[in-house]
Amino acid sequence: MAYHFAASADRQTIPIIPIETEVFAAWLKNQGAAMKRWVKSTRFTGAVGSISLVAGSDGSLCSVLVGVDNHQGLWAYSALPSKLPEGRYEIDARMDRASATAVALGWALGCYQFTKYKSNPIGLGRPSLVWPKNCDRGAVRRTADATTLVRDLINIPAEDMGPPELALAARKLAKKHDARINMVIGNALLKKGYPTIHAVGRAASKAPRLIDMTWGRANSPKVTLVGKGVCFDTGGLDLKSAAGMLRMKKDMGGSAHVLGLAHMIMDAKLDVRLRVLIGAVENSVAGNAYRPSDVIRTRKGVTVEVGNTDAEGRLVMCDALAEADREKPALIADFATLTGAARVALGTQIATMFCNDEKLASDLYEAGEENGDPIWRLPLFPSYRRLLKSKVADINNVSEGGFAGAITAALFLEEFVSKRTPWVHFDIMACNATALPGRPVGGEAMGMRALYDVIQKRFGKNKRH
Ligand code: BES
Ligand code: MN
Ligand code: ZN
Repeated sequence: MAYHFAASADRQTIPIIPIETEVFAAWLKNQGAAMKRWVKSTRFTGAVGSISLVAGSDGSLCSVLVGVDNHQGLWAYSALPSKLPEGRYEIDARMDRASATAVALGWALGCYQFTKYKSNPIGLGRPSLVWPKNCDRGAVRRTADATTLVRDLINIPAEDMGPPELALAARKLAKKHDARINMVIGNALLKKGYPTIHAVGRAASKAPRLIDMTWGRANSPKVTLVGKGVCFDTGGLDLKSAAGMLRMKKDMGGSAHVLGLAHMIMDAKLDVRLRVLIGAVENSVAGNAYRPSDVIRTRKGVTVEVGNTDAEGRLVMCDALAEADREKPALIADFATLTGAARVALGTQIATMFCNDEKLASDLYEAGEENGDPIWRLPLFPSYRRLLKSKVADINNVSEGGFAGAITAALFLEEFVSKRTPWVHFDIMACNATALPGRPVGGEAMGMRALYDVIQKRFGKNKRH
């Protein structure tokens, strides 16, 4: 993707002047008469996010005023790429390395457009930003590339992003970073012991599969990422409503997140042995569909009664988590668009986190705050485990009563991870419901930057690569 950065300023470069809303009046006092009149007549108040295009005496654009709350924040300038006319711009502010990097990332994320299906994409002539001084361009590119990958994978409709296409995206990533990749497809899932992935995906015309990617030195600390890759969720036989089904192309959002994160880890050559496991399926309806009341013996040996075929995500995840746990990694992180309940609890902008390790949870929370990637923890409340009791099997895939839906889903997953393995589960929305600066409606990465930050701090760089 083109991020619209320019290497250096030229004579036509237009300054972007950040004005902190609180000091707007003081700023205005110091301006010349023409600027004062312009600001007054256009009613520019320096409100956060508002902009004013200012013309010079010859009538050409000479500067852009932007209202900011803290001109060093990630999203401070990220609305600008879609608002400014074509041209070259430079932020007229001193910034330290962290702020310069955050601001450049905000600009890059604000340049994102999903135009794959537009015959005549609008806005081809785009503004470009002169790279802010001292910014970490590698970090900006890495994070923006990962976010673009996540957004694109989610935004592509299910017809063009089924299990094989998702697998192809993983293959491309593996190739780029010299990672090993293995697929277990269709009936081979039964032979290799992934019965839940097979059961959920077997009714679709595109065969279900496990995507298994590994990278890094065998004796580096093991980090394993597990993603929900339900390429479309009809609900199965317990079919969703039309409104409920409409957005379900995003149900592979968790797998998009782990691929984005894997890109960041491999691109930065962190000192980890990375493994990525994705259950890629379509939860479809056909004569061979799995049914409510069926019992599946999972990879771990735990038997599951299918209370509802629409609680398919936890089934797809449980065999992948059991495989992840077998290696006793230093960290397992999973991402899944697992429940509607998570977004009812926390809304659309916060990633819901469950974690069996206090330090990991607090590190993640902190990293979320620092990286503008908000996370909030919900409890793995042991007493609610009883809500998943089954009369015929070891566990039911849905809870009685439907209370605490995100928690009971997390408790279901917890059954497949050993207590000693540090594990974090993200139940995410994976899309923006309304547009915010730098975050257009559609696919979105949530919790990915925070987790990358924690992994990078814990495992650092691998100089031997
Ligand atoms: N993919 C959905 C969860 C979902 C719904 C995510 C809406 C984002 C927005 C998941 O497979 C699902 O259908 N979950 C059910 C579980 C229920 C049957 C226990 C839900 O949340 O309603
Ligand atoms: Mn479902
Ligand atoms: Zn689902």
